[in-house]
Amino acid sequence: MRYIGGKTLLLDKIDNAINENCSNIHSIIDIFAGSVVVSSHLVQSGFQVISNDILYFSYVIQRCVIGISKIPSFDKLKEIGIFAPLEYLNYLPIDKTDFDIQKCFIYQNYSLGGSSRMYFREDNALKIDIIRLTIEQWYLDGCINDDEYFYLLASLIYAVPYVANITGVYAAYLKFWDKRTYNQIVLKEIPLRLNNQNNYCYNCDYTALLKIKADLLYADPPYNQREYAPNYHLLETIARYDYPKIKGVSGMREYSQMKSKFCSKKTVEEAFETLIRDTNCNNILISYNNEGLITTTRLSEICKDYAINDSFKLYEFDYRRYKNKIPNETEGLKEQLYFLRRR
Ligand SMILES: C[S@@+](CC[C@H](N)C(=O)[O-])C[C@H]1O[C@@H](n2cnc3c(N)ncnc32)[C@H](O)[C@@H]1O
Repeated sequence: MRYIGGKTLLLDKIDNAINENCSNIHSIIDIFAGSVVVSSHLVQSGFQVISNDILYFSYVIQRCVIGISKIPSFDKLKEIGIFAPLEYLNYLPIDKTDFDIQKCFIYQNYSLGGSSRMYFREDNALKIDIIRLTIEQWYLDGCINDDEYFYLLASLIYAVPYVANITGVYAAYLKFWDKRTYNQIVLKEIPLRLNNQNNYCYNCDYTALLKIKADLLYADPPYNQREYAPNYHLLETIARYDYPKIKGVSGMREYSQMKSKFCSKKTVEEAFETLIRDTNCNNILISYNNEGLITTTRLSEICKDYAINDSFKLYEFDYRRYKNKIPNETEGLKEQLYFLRRR
């Protein structure tokens, strides 16, 4: 999944920093897991992973990709004649007369069917609603267990960006129909990372997890003022399906409780200090960049304050070698990894 600040292209650098500085480590906390690419990679490398993010849709993906310990069998659905649930959901009839259209939140609020918003074409909006409502009903009826529930939900979350009328994030929709929106939404199988390690997934503020003990804390917080909650509000609403109060041109859900201390110049320093001071992990690896809200000098100072002897290391990588962006815009921009062993 495309995600702001996603680390797909930095996985080998993260591996190298871990291998270079930590021997004999088994468990890693990925405390800002986002799209879950790092957690998923670490699980595949054999680590026990404890993942977390404040966004619920990220939790849904975590819970599916690294939280499921054996391939879901959907036995109860088989008993009612459904042998291929993804196919069943993909081919659900979308006849408006078959169900209560008022309950279809996405159709009513994010398509021209019930609003002036152009996030989805009407048929896809309705399909998202029907699939989401069907998954919830199966769960409430005891036809699917927790693992199966999160597997199907994650499959829906992964499918949404392929039919959404956006340029990457959900803060605004396009005023013309992108050709992608004419595709039918299709749920696909998700590759699971089954490593028999009892991975754990959380959906809370990072401060609530600092007590947890693991061999390494990997922290990839936001770098700038751009909050994640408003940029991914629609994935959050589809994941929660909680009929939120929404407002504005983009139909944004309330997110004041989800504002990040890493997204404000006033609070970012305190947020980093809390993370590094209060963690119960001996090793810390932080992803950041040299143009973030806290300067490289200040973040390095905080790290050094809490580091054993000479354990602090700063790695920098030319951003343009990882992202194919316009040279002028990214001139001098560097991806960074800060490592320290805690006193
Ligand atoms: C840079 S992204 C992480 C990207 C991730 N490593 C990946 O590769 O997809 C930062 C993440 O931190 C989460 N976040 C921000 N503030 C948080 C907080 N206070 N507690 C927990 N998660 C938070 C955001 O929701 C976002 O998903």
